[in-house]
Amino acid sequence: MNDWLPDIPVWQAPTGSIAGVELCAAVSRAGGIGSMGMTWEAEEEGARKIEAVRRITDKPFMCNFALAFAPKCLDNVLNAGAPIVCFSWGDAAPYAKRVKNADAILGVQVTNVDGMKRAADIGAEFVICQSVEAGGHVQSTTSMDTLLPKILDAAGDIPVIAAGGVSTGTRIAELIRLGAAGVMCGTRFVASVESLAHAEYKRRLVEAEAEDAALTMCFQDGWQGAPHRVLRNSTMETWEAYGSPSVGNRPGEGDKLAVNGHGEPILRYEDTAPRVGMEGEIEAMCCYAGMGVGNIQSILPASEILLQLWKEALETSN
Ligand SMILES: Cc1cc2nc3c(=O)[nH]c(=O)nc-3n(C[C@H](O)[C@H](O)[C@H](O)COP(=O)(O)O)c2cc1C
Repeated sequence: MNDWLPDIPVWQAPTGSIAGVELCAAVSRAGGIGSMGMTWEAEEEGARKIEAVRRITDKPFMCNFALAFAPKCLDNVLNAGAPIVCFSWGDAAPYAKRVKNADAILGVQVTNVDGMKRAADIGAEFVICQSVEAGGHVQSTTSMDTLLPKILDAAGDIPVIAAGGVSTGTRIAELIRLGAAGVMCGTRFVASVESLAHAEYKRRLVEAEAEDAALTMCFQDGWQGAPHRVLRNSTMETWEAYGSPSVGNRPGEGDKLAVNGHGEPILRYEDTAPRVGMEGEIEAMCCYAGMGVGNIQSILPASEILLQLWKEALETSN
């Protein structure tokens, strides 16, 4: 029934625009599951990316839609043959049938027992248990060690993939021992050769400690009201020094921090992560990071990261 699960139970998290074709394909080709964020993708672009991954590997990979936004390229992605589709941040029920009719595997990100039950009701074939240690937008309010046993209890036979602050083989072994069918790592793969993160963002991840990865409401522009975990930086320190004011009253609001590859401005407080091709004050931008960031010592090819993590996990278990 779960014969589609990967040889290596390590998934690369959908990390928005940072995880493109090369990163996704590299992880899947090496035996894990790679993924791409499709939430903000234009319709034809979603299909183009599926086809591009397929040209590199025939292994399964995942596409994510954060349902705080309409999943505008869902049909294109399904028609192009996306093997696994996962929804986060919203009610997946209206889309479940479309995924199943396309013979794709349906996954849902859950952060509490009610969410787990709803995912089971709509026929989710796996769930992602996201905990509060996660980097990026954080749907969860609960630590992994508290949340995972509850989700596992409610999941029954549905495989549970644990996401949030996972960046060592030792932690992977622990979570699998608890009963997770796999783990999902986001920040660890942002600091990979293939990720589309800006070189300075990757360098800051390598230098950071766990306490530098703060949960905040600072970078709200683009996605209002969603907590996110990022590296502390000058924008955040100044905003906090002013008492964390609301939108419209923030220091330096409207400052142009950088430009993207098309010369379009990135403003202070935007939720856009620094990508290759951007130029400007990268440090002051929204650099997402989970609490496992302190264990990241180097920027390596994604396949090496995957194989090293899994080797370390196996050594810990033996
Ligand atoms: C740069 C970045 C972007 C992310 N974008 C998304 C996204 O588009 N959709 C989503 O469901 N989760 C997103 N996440 C959260 C991840 O799916 C995952 O839950 C998280 O990375 C796990 O924690 P970790 O970073 O500590 O490994 C993002 C995370 C990061 C670091």
